[in-house]
Amino acid sequence: MTPITAYSPTYKLGDRVVNRLGYGAMQLAGPGVFGPPKDHAAALAVLREAAASEVDHIDTSDFYGPHVTNQIIREALHPHRDDLVIVTKIGATRGADGSWNPAFSPAKLTKAVHDNLRNLGLDTLNVVNLRCMFDPHHPAEGSIEAPLTALADLQRKGLVRHIGLSHVTPTQIAEGRRICEIVCVQNQYNLAHRDDDELIDALARDGIAYVPYFPLGGFTPLQSSTLSSVAARLGATPMQVALAWLLRRSPNILLIPGTSSVKHLRENLAAGELVLPDDAIEELNGVASAGAI
Ligand SMILES: NC(=O)c1ccc[n+]([C@@H]2O[C@H](COP(=O)([O-])OP(=O)(O)OC[C@H]3O[C@@H](n4cnc5c(N)ncnc54)[C@H](OP(=O)(O)O)[C@@H]3O)[C@@H](O)[C@H]2O)c1
Repeated sequence: MTPITAYSPTYKLGDRVVNRLGYGAMQLAGPGVFGPPKDHAAALAVLREAAASEVDHIDTSDFYGPHVTNQIIREALHPHRDDLVIVTKIGATRGADGSWNPAFSPAKLTKAVHDNLRNLGLDTLNVVNLRCMFDPHHPAEGSIEAPLTALADLQRKGLVRHIGLSHVTPTQIAEGRRICEIVCVQNQYNLAHRDDDELIDALARDGIAYVPYFPLGGFTPLQSSTLSSVAARLGATPMQVALAWLLRRSPNILLIPGTSSVKHLRENLAAGELVLPDDAIEELNGVASAGAI
């Protein structure tokens, strides 16, 4: 077994260089990403542990809770360290019943930016993703010109430093890049869900970060006998192997695994030390075609 050559632990995100292992804050809200967390102190502890570790990239949104996750980030970490990149996303609001509603008008996007600024305690948002969830199940075609132009106007006003796109197709990314600079793309991708293989390689060639959401499978964590047997062989957990595989997959992949547990956070960050041998990579590459979930 030949160990694979070490990979770079960092990649650029806008005008910063961040550690490729970051943290996704969505799990800090209540069940269904709605309302307060079951354990407020535990949520603060996760964020403080992340900040005390090498995490310098946190993914969030004001529609988690809504407002709750950003307010917890502010409570745990404000004043924010200069090197911390907080990435947020806009394009939805939450109904009183927890529903997710599209919010793409210039007025709603402007309100979303101001809500994020206030709840995070920032003067400028470092990166804002326009989340184009026209279809909840998979990215669906449709012009993004109107909302992205509105977001680019907010960037010109100095409220937003960099812009990214989420839940988008290659056609929408191409359209977006004609309107403004796109520094990152956030779509669903993991060991078992590899629709974006070609897109990731194309973005890598253009130096654009790819930030997979649900890197561990999201609400249905990854389960696969191959993943479990590779993990057992390497003395790691299946989730660590899933993250290590993503780090190997392409240098432009930035990870934002979500957790509400300090123990899981530590395990996830330790995945950066895990070296996957060639034969393990080959086996893991077969997971998606085997139809594992
Ligand atoms: N752009 C979008 O539309 C979009 C959509 C969804 C998510 N996101 C972003 O992507 C981030 C990541 O997605 P996600 O949090 O939904 O899914 P994920 O990272 O794939 O998985 C999170 C789930 O895995 C569990 N988990 C985490 N670490 C674990 C470990 N070491 N061992 C066992 N279980 C572990 C968590 O439970 P515990 O809490 O018990 O650890 C949670 O149930 C989110 O935080 C959010 O910022 C973006």
